[in-house]
Amino acid sequence: MKLFLDTGDVEEVKKAAEWGVIDGVTTNPTLIAKSGKGFRETVLKICELVPGGAISAEVVATDYDTMLKEALEIASWHDQIVVKVPLIEPGVRLVSTLTERGIRTNVTLVFTVTQAMLAAKAGATFISNFVGRVDDISGDGMEAVAATVEMVESYGFESEVLVASVRHPQHVVQALAVRAHIATMPFGVIQQLFKHPLTDSGLKRFLDDWNKAGLSIFEGAGVA
Ligand code: E4P
Repeated sequence: MKLFLDTGDVEEVKKAAEWGVIDGVTTNPTLIAKSGKGFRETVLKICELVPGGAISAEVVATDYDTMLKEALEIASWHDQIVVKVPLIEPGVRLVSTLTERGIRTNVTLVFTVTQAMLAAKAGATFISNFVGRVDDISGDGMEAVAATVEMVESYGFESEVLVASVRHPQHVVQALAVRAHIATMPFGVIQQLFKHPLTDSGLKRFLDDWNKAGLSIFEGAGVA
């Protein structure tokens, strides 16, 4: 499963990129607004920090003609950019157009397998299926993800299913279980994936024993 970072914060991207496990970054208008920086400069900086990664940047118009203008502008900034488009009628039309032109798309705000089918038929590169927002209203967000993975695989669509609106590590466990292609998550959730109390206590024991014995990796190697 590919791992994307869900943020507009360049410092978070910088830190996560150093781990070498980030395949891309997703942004949305809220995250960009929160960054307090310009849209283009933020997205270009993220492209630079994650070389070769898929970087999603979203259009904000809701009529087809303006959405197309915005999409072409955004796509012109960098070849790593994937144009993010909401699942509305002009949005699906836009995805069909961009697909014909060879521009990659990430269809966002997808909550059902039938919405996902429309995105897949239009040629979406990624289908962003939101889970946390459904769980927030007492639903089961992962149900639609499982159905969408099954739909994409069994019908042979080329779209990749991207689990979005991830709130905690259990969502990542579930995304792996349903064989989602990608999960995007906030920096804090990726940090949580590292954590296990037995890792911490195990490491402490190893290092205490090593230090008590006065050992050194470089002993005898001519290095201080
Ligand atoms: C990702 O592409 C979405 O923009 C994001 O995951 C939404 O997450 P939220 O529901 O926590 O705002």
